Amino acid sequence: MKEAEERDAELEKIETALLLEGIYQRYGYDFRDYSSSSVGRRIRHRMRLEGLDDISSLLRNVLHDSDAFRRLLGDLIIPVTELFRDPEMFLAFRRNVAPELRKLPFVRIWHAGCSTGEEVYSLVVLLHEEGLLDKSRIYATDISEEALQRARDGILPIDRMQQYTRNYQAAGGTGEFSSYYASERGIVMLKPFLRERIVFARHNLATDSSFNEFHVVFCRNVMIYFNSELSNRVHGLFYDSLAAGGFLVLGGRESLAFTPIEDRYETWNDTHRIYRKIL
Ligand SMILES: C[S@@+](CC[C@H](N)C(=O)[O-])C[C@H]1O[C@@H](n2cnc3c(N)ncnc32)[C@H](O)[C@@H]1O
Repeated sequence: MKEAEERDAELEKIETALLLEGIYQRYGYDFRDYSSSSVGRRIRHRMRLEGLDDISSLLRNVLHDSDAFRRLLGDLIIPVTELFRDPEMFLAFRRNVAPELRKLPFVRIWHAGCSTGEEVYSLVVLLHEEGLLDKSRIYATDISEEALQRARDGILPIDRMQQYTRNYQAAGGTGEFSSYYASERGIVMLKPFLRERIVFARHNLATDSSFNEFHVVFCRNVMIYFNSELSNRVHGLFYDSLAAGGFLVLGGRESLAFTPIEDRYETWNDTHRIYRKIL
């Protein structure tokens, strides 16, 4: 029995590696260094939805049918996000990081893995209220063109507006949240001025290099899906992309602890995973 289970697990590992290699060769998306447990869950979920018994069948479908690939891609990239997600982090940023940014003549910020834009728009609102927006340029990147298009559109789901208003207040918002959007016939749209300082672009953290020097890098809830090898590579990329004294902001379940560059940062706010590159 145990032998059969071990053999099945071994076969699943081989088939998963073939599937990820096939996706990379056929479509250029590189999931080969993502966390195997998370990727395994996503693949099994997709197999259930498509009524497939084994990963090899999924591989065949994905290779021959780009719609099948798009469906699997939607599962693998996990675009979950919200406005002022973890409001206390934004409050800490407002109190502990904004005063440091005020000392700079201009501010460049990179949101890596920005998904549909909620995180970057939250920061833009904060920068606006702190009088920092006019001297800021914000680069928002993601692997998913579909997510980026939604980010550019700046449309919010109407059923989440109450929660977003509460998040905004808990994040230390100093104005009226309703002044940042217009709502017409059931569609909620962020005001265009919030988009003016943002550049949205496709960027793959697994394969692409840096493209500027930044004073702040946000990469929240992205590296939890990477294995440690890929996370370490991406941490190297962020370290090289940050100016001396620049800030790195990770997600609540992410940390610099036990990474090779841990001692090159000081912990600026441990609870909210804000780190500062040591000069
Ligand atoms: C869970 S969302 C996080 C969104 C936002 N940062 C937040 O915390 O609310 C993860 C995002 O990472 C993006 N992503 C995954 N792998 C990536 C990669 N290799 N390069 C760039 N973005 C990636 C996904 O497309 C997805 O939009």
